[in-house]
Amino acid sequence: MDVNDVLLLASAVVLGLVWWRRCSKTGGVDRTLVIVTDADLIHDALVKQGPMFASRPADSPIRLLFSVGKCTVNSAPYGPLWRALRRNFVAEIVSPQRVKGFSWIREWAMGNHLRRIRAEHAKTGAVRMMASCRLTICSILICICFGAKIPDELIVEIEEVMSAGTDTSATALEWVMMHLILDPAAQERVYDEVVAKAGKTARITEADVEALPYLQRFLEGGEGHDTDITGTRALRMMPFGAGRRICPAATLGVLHIQLTLANMIRELRWTPPAGEGPPDPTETFAFTVVMKNSLRAGIVERNQPPPVAAH
Ligand code: HEM
Repeated sequence: MDVNDVLLLASAVVLGLVWWRRCSKTGGVDRTLVIVTDADLIHDALVKQGPMFASRPADSPIRLLFSVGKCTVNSAPYGPLWRALRRNFVAEIVSPQRVKGFSWIREWAMGNHLRRIRAEHAKTGAVRMMASCRLTICSILICICFGAKIPDELIVEIEEVMSAGTDTSATALEWVMMHLILDPAAQERVYDEVVAKAGKTARITEADVEALPYLQRFLEGGEGHDTDITGTRALRMMPFGAGRRICPAATLGVLHIQLTLANMIRELRWTPPAGEGPPDPTETFAFTVVMKNSLRAGIVERNQPPPVAAH
């Protein structure tokens, strides 16, 4: 290889890197980013003029790999493919009958969750909230997907369901737990409400969590129990998006959050880890807006602790 070959090779590598960087940022096409902050305008764009903005922007090469060439519910362009994928998802995973039938999965996952938390705290003196909640939510979703009889061709779609369902729910849990650690009076109020409804030891059921108004109001950021989070009539909060592409699993996501929260608060009192100050609420952008310094928490048993067992 002479000098010319080396120069040629080096130029090819540099050009390749420039192309990759550009594509990763822009999806290979020039895009204009418009940020809309007015609630009425957002409602106009996403709900009233829904179809105009119902397709996702062009994907970068990496995203194209993950979205399997835009053939998943989240990435498919608005049209017949998206409609078929979404209909499948709703019928197979989040219809009320399906959700009810997966109750045994949630019971199993809640037991594991509390056992894992206790074991981690006993070993390290702190619980890493995000890591723990991600694992629990992901295990529920994987069990829902593979425990049910789902044909091979849907598995690709399932992979995407994991990321859409795991990070969102785990992030919400991390933020709520941070607020409950910063506000012990609110934490006691949630505890009292859960115990009044479900008792101190019985399994907390789906029906129980639906009847916990204070916990629900706390999750909605004090906006009030009646806020319409689907944004159909008008927009106030849109944690699940709005319009055609609104999260199809909002009910399931909320159920997972409420159940996990009710179990964690009833069994344990949550504090900063021993010797550490209060949690830092600084935000940073990831797939969702997460805590810059992930929440680490200490726990105190509310009742006689069960023995820490391997699962
Ligand atoms: C608290 C939990 C959750 C939150 C905050 C959340 C939020 C969102 C948001 C903001 C969107 C985008 C909406 C838009 O583009 O306008 C979305 C879409 C989506 N979510 Fe969720 N989500 C949650 C839980 C879940 C769960 C548990 C699953 C799956 C079991 C899931 C599956 C999906 C899918 C498949 C889409 C794409 C819908 C489409 O493009 O038509 N999400 N979610």
